[in-house]
Amino acid sequence: MQASATLLQERRLGETLRRDRWWAAPLSVALGLALFGGYATWAIFQGTNYFADPYLSPFYSPCLSSSCPGEVRLLGFDWWRFSPAVLIMWVILGFRGTCYYYRKAYYRAYFIDPPACAVGEHRGHRYQGETAFPLILQNSHRYFILPSLIILGFLWYDTLRAFLFSDGFGIGVGTLILLVNVVLLSGYAFGCHSLRHLAGGGVDCFSCARFGGARYRLWRGVSFLNRKHALWAWVSLIVVCLTDLYVRLVASGVVSDPRIL
Ligand code: FES
Repeated sequence: MQASATLLQERRLGETLRRDRWWAAPLSVALGLALFGGYATWAIFQGTNYFADPYLSPFYSPCLSSSCPGEVRLLGFDWWRFSPAVLIMWVILGFRGTCYYYRKAYYRAYFIDPPACAVGEHRGHRYQGETAFPLILQNSHRYFILPSLIILGFLWYDTLRAFLFSDGFGIGVGTLILLVNVVLLSGYAFGCHSLRHLAGGGVDCFSCARFGGARYRLWRGVSFLNRKHALWAWVSLIVVCLTDLYVRLVASGVVSDPRIL
């Protein structure tokens, strides 16, 4: 045991006995996060072309600035001079940035600390868990889940609103895109590890706990989604960017939104 620990400590960065393509996962994560994280950052700071009635980009909901179109303005903060998305994006970035899955992904992809299981890391074995500054801040994830669920509620409202056109009820391609987007975001958020703990943590026996039956059913549901949390994380990230892009293209007149109904 001690011999193998010594052997691991002696490994230099990237040194390993593994013969598989261990580098493929961290490399694709690094490229994927750079691409979609980069797009999201660009879109958030634009402050234009985020609304094409009845579609509102998910990056801009709820819309809280006086510059928001009247149809979707929830609050009119007239002191705010920048893109309305910035007012709310700290919640979403905080939620995604502290997500248990993304932490593992970017620790490996960007910090190469370690780059993969049983592969030499660049600073040796100095990881002490997330018990000291700055990594202890990652524990704020359990608080980000609550405002994130509120924002998710607004996204569901926006999706229902996307069925209401100026001539009444209808379905456009954008309606379906918003619907798929909010379902994927819900699958991601409701599979959250922190939510799973909120639902089922701290009890020794569900049948003895207050609201034990409801908590058990909720815990089962969250656990079901949690099994594929990484997949939900990626697909929802890609689709939310594509949804913003679609709204942006329609709003700027580059494409027209075909009506299905
Ligand atoms: S652990 Fe990923 S969203 Fe909470």
